Amino acid sequence: MITHDVIVVGSGLAGMRAAVEIRRKAPQADIALITKVYPTRSHSGAAQGGIAAALGNIRYDANGVPVAAPEDQPGDDWLTHMYDTVKGADFIGDQDAQEILAREAVPTIYELEHMGVPFSRMPDGRIAQRPFGGHTNPRACYAADRTGHALLHTLYGELVRYNVKVYPEWYMLSVVIEDNSCRGVTALDIRTGEVHAVNAKATMFGTGGYGRAFKITSNAFSSTGDGITAAYRAGIPLEDMEFVQFHPTGLFSHGILLSEGARGEGGYLLNGLNERFMSRYAPGRMELAPRDVVSRSIYSELEAGRGAGPNGEYVLLDLRHLGKQKLDERLPQITELARDYLGIDPVTEPVPIQPTAHYSMGGIPTDADGRVVRGENEIVQGFFAAGECACASVHGANRLGTNSLLEATVYGRRTGQTIANFLHLESQGVGAAIPAMPSQALKQAEDELRELLSRTGREIAADIRKELQATMFQNAGVFRTPEKLEAELGIIEDLRERFALISLDDKGRRYNTELIETLELAHLLEFSECIVAGALARQESRGAHARRDFPKRDDTHWMKHTLAYREADGRARLDYKPVRYGPDGPRFQPEERKY
Ligand code: FUM
Repeated sequence: MITHDVIVVGSGLAGMRAAVEIRRKAPQADIALITKVYPTRSHSGAAQGGIAAALGNIRYDANGVPVAAPEDQPGDDWLTHMYDTVKGADFIGDQDAQEILAREAVPTIYELEHMGVPFSRMPDGRIAQRPFGGHTNPRACYAADRTGHALLHTLYGELVRYNVKVYPEWYMLSVVIEDNSCRGVTALDIRTGEVHAVNAKATMFGTGGYGRAFKITSNAFSSTGDGITAAYRAGIPLEDMEFVQFHPTGLFSHGILLSEGARGEGGYLLNGLNERFMSRYAPGRMELAPRDVVSRSIYSELEAGRGAGPNGEYVLLDLRHLGKQKLDERLPQITELARDYLGIDPVTEPVPIQPTAHYSMGGIPTDADGRVVRGENEIVQGFFAAGECACASVHGANRLGTNSLLEATVYGRRTGQTIANFLHLESQGVGAAIPAMPSQALKQAEDELRELLSRTGREIAADIRKELQATMFQNAGVFRTPEKLEAELGIIEDLRERFALISLDDKGRRYNTELIETLELAHLLEFSECIVAGALARQESRGAHARRDFPKRDDTHWMKHTLAYREADGRARLDYKPVRYGPDGPRFQPEERKY
């Protein structure tokens, strides 16, 4: 048995930032991090356009052009950032958590700067900021269009500096919770094929999102909702799984992200008639409306027969007017992606784009300090989560661009602080006893793996995965209907039956990537039911959840969070809980969301 004071699962920004904070606040704590990839390959590195904070270095002039703000008159403030976040979330986000996000954003950016993040700069040396969708002021701090990459590598440097032990290429199999207290995890060492129980006083998940349930996605292959499913199987209900964000500008037919920073720098969206069609849907913000609005607008154009391309199946991102120098300086990565994947040079041609599954607003419920919560407010002892796998719920029904890197770093640090306090309080000092790991946990994980490897059916995981991803994109995508959602529930049911008849070609234990992909598929199948069931039940349109049959938001009946509980037969049962506010109630009351 392996033991540590703290085990962090996931090596993205949230997990690494938490580990660093725990080391700072509880220096003697024995901390380890488990990750199924190498830390610098985590999906946080794919974030491109920026991280939000109301530094106020740039403001709009009277003509709406971004200009430098005088140093002594910042052009932004945290309360406006909070308001934008609350409105972007379509008023269902938990305002206590949203307030923390906006308040802590500015010190977080300076802290990252001091760690060494190579932010792009203004001529006077201040951190440069660009406009982003749904934000009133230009507040995206960026490192060209590789912001996530820059943050991830800087944080990894901190992890090494603070000497946090890393188990790379370890795949977490289960989280062990007994008597409402988390005892740690079981995990497969991918290289040796051995299964281990990892016993800890505190277990934190920073395991990322679930975009890989969809065929067209900007998400890494690793974003398969592993942590979310492990928590669900351990009896934690999942929150608001139906809220899935589709980023408007995925590279056509690939889904690879072309940063919203491109529109922040002045890029246009054009339909097949060469019109800047956003004037029809969000005349006040045009291309910089929030993502849910822009993605729906794109689909509306396609459905109206105004798409571009031979079959009218995409729209265009036009960057030509920005010029080569600006593209090279500020958007080098997306320029390269368009050239490499579509053979299109954005300097001279508009780029075909389509909405792509991008971000999971739902996940493991936590309070505003990163503690995992079961039901309305039962804290699970010793279990914590932050980042995309967690639902605090900062982003409500629709996240604003650049708020995810912010959430990962603000809530990574905050959760690290909570864990450090927990270690001190819970154990009256680091070194006291670790709650026992139940003896059957390891055996159960080992048995499940052996059973999977011994199956002799005729089904192949890759076929089932392809079918799931294609139908989820088709039936639970940007616009939803009860007929399609019902159909998708039936498809998932069938695919789960087929999964029971699966057989692996590779029955070995060492570096068995087919085994990992099969375990991931089991997760996709399980949580996809929560997405679809939640979407079918929610009879309103709110943020990223757009129902054709209920086109309006319905605060009377649906101002509440969905909770999906796993029943004994493995099926999801839905319940609900109220939206959370700070001690003084909501700072911002719901209003009609217009842009
Ligand atoms: O478009 C982007 O650069 C993505 C940023 C984000 O999702 O926050």
